[in-house]
Amino acid sequence: MIEVANRLHTVEEYYFSRKLREVNQMIASGKPVINLGIGSPDMQPPQKVVEAISGSLQDANAHKYQSYQGMPELREAMASFYREHFSVSLNPSSEILPLMGSKEGIMHISMAYLNEGDEVLIPNPGYPTYQSVTRLVGAEPVFYELDAANNWLPNIDELEKLDLSKVKLMWVNYPHMPTGAQPSEIAFRGLVDFAKRHNILIVNDNPYSFVLNDNPMSILTVEGAEDVCLELNSLSKTFNMAGWRVGMVLGNSTLISNILKVKSNMDSGMFYGIQKGAIEALKCSKMWYVTLNSVYKRRRDLIWKLADALNCTYDKEATGMFVWAKLPSHLKSEEFIDTILKNNNIFITPGTIFGTQGEGYIRFSLCATAEDIEECIARVK
Ligand SMILES: Cc1ncc(COP(=O)(O)O)c(C=O)c1O
Repeated sequence: MIEVANRLHTVEEYYFSRKLREVNQMIASGKPVINLGIGSPDMQPPQKVVEAISGSLQDANAHKYQSYQGMPELREAMASFYREHFSVSLNPSSEILPLMGSKEGIMHISMAYLNEGDEVLIPNPGYPTYQSVTRLVGAEPVFYELDAANNWLPNIDELEKLDLSKVKLMWVNYPHMPTGAQPSEIAFRGLVDFAKRHNILIVNDNPYSFVLNDNPMSILTVEGAEDVCLELNSLSKTFNMAGWRVGMVLGNSTLISNILKVKSNMDSGMFYGIQKGAIEALKCSKMWYVTLNSVYKRRRDLIWKLADALNCTYDKEATGMFVWAKLPSHLKSEEFIDTILKNNNIFITPGTIFGTQGEGYIRFSLCATAEDIEECIARVK
């Protein structure tokens, strides 16, 4: 038996990879399972995006290696997108790096900035990848707790009480997944000041800004953020392009060039047609966002009804592609979702996969049709 590397003992198979195997076995055995678990957009990307990739296939350069930094037109489209939607000005030649999804950016940033033994502030509840990547690179997660009472925003006074001497990096993710909490200007300002006081790199992972959110915000709008902050963004949710794997990291040219040093040693550019499609997506007019959100709004209204039928409570001000719902106080998340999966053939995500602060919560995805959600309501009633 060939021994695996030690780092592999620090992580487990991703929850969805494991749980979806179970769900798929149920489906194969004839159970009509409806998946309200995973956040994989089920709608189509903009038509012009699909046309751009298919129209690009005969281009002379289509099948060659592409630039490590992405095509200049792609970086320009990303810069225009940030200018238009967030009022942030970035130099497309040095302050933007296209990625194959923001998830890979989490690894690249960690490889560029973390040494073994460095500590990393990670939200609880939060996206599990921050923790697993931190462990894979030999650094130590230090969880900071978010709670409903503070609208799931970091409590800087509590953070100040920690021994921060080994902390190098802090992950923040607003609008927040899984809770849908919005950032505030004051919260972003507080984070930037905190990062400056302690010489910590803050990365705001921002893939949900355009889903059921009237006020997209970037941490890079805060004065001085460019010294200590990076932002990740993604086309996965905004343009229904999760499988395309297009994201971006944005920040000052020194921070970005260090990430490029890692990335250019790991891949050899993004497929040309994908870049062509991404450029078209980033140019979408307001109409795209209005249409996308009208579908999600209808679905969210139905999920709220489903949550009511399950005696859950939720915040109607929350944003994003999920509904984060609190179970009646005596119920445990994983037991609850297993019961619903067994009895009603509905798969919902337990809050605990996002950390201990997710106990007592479940997360519904809006990536299911209205008909499927209506069917779920009928099943639980
Ligand atoms: C908070 C958060 N960050 C990043 C990602 C990864 O997105 P991408 O498809 O851009 O890699 C996800 C996907 O579910 C997410 O929920």
